[in-house]
Amino acid sequence: MTSSHASASRWSLPSEARARALRQHATIRTLLWSAASTALAAEQGSTAARADLLSLVAELRRVLEDHLVCEEALLIPSLEARRLATEHARKRSDLALLTALAASGDFTRLSRELSRLFSNLTVDMEYEERTFLAAEV
Ligand SMILES: [Fe+2]
Repeated sequence: MTSSHASASRWSLPSEARARALRQHATIRTLLWSAASTALAAEQGSTAARADLLSLVAELRRVLEDHLVCEEALLIPSLEARRLATEHARKRSDLALLTALAASGDFTRLSRELSRLFSNLTVDMEYEERTFLAAEV
């Protein structure tokens, strides 16, 4: 009552920012699917698939890092920001591990870690789309 500056809903994001984050999710999903299918062939020793997988991992890291920075900028004023910071630290360490495995040439472990990242990111993106990226009612 006395507050002269009521805060906005913690879920409200400008629709343009929300649309951008959702487009990034779509790109991340596409890259994850490509990497998952390429990883199988890479694990079986295909030289072409191995080269493709290394590019896909580098691309995934770049796109996902851009996306994390974007979400962090959007959510700084919200209560969701602290939870997101923990999630993002985990994602960054997963991405660093993937990059290290790609450099080491251990395609069996790379494939396993990619599949784990695939599951984790799918769960996280679905959660985000139900919460702060959901359209306002
Ligand atoms: Fe996200």
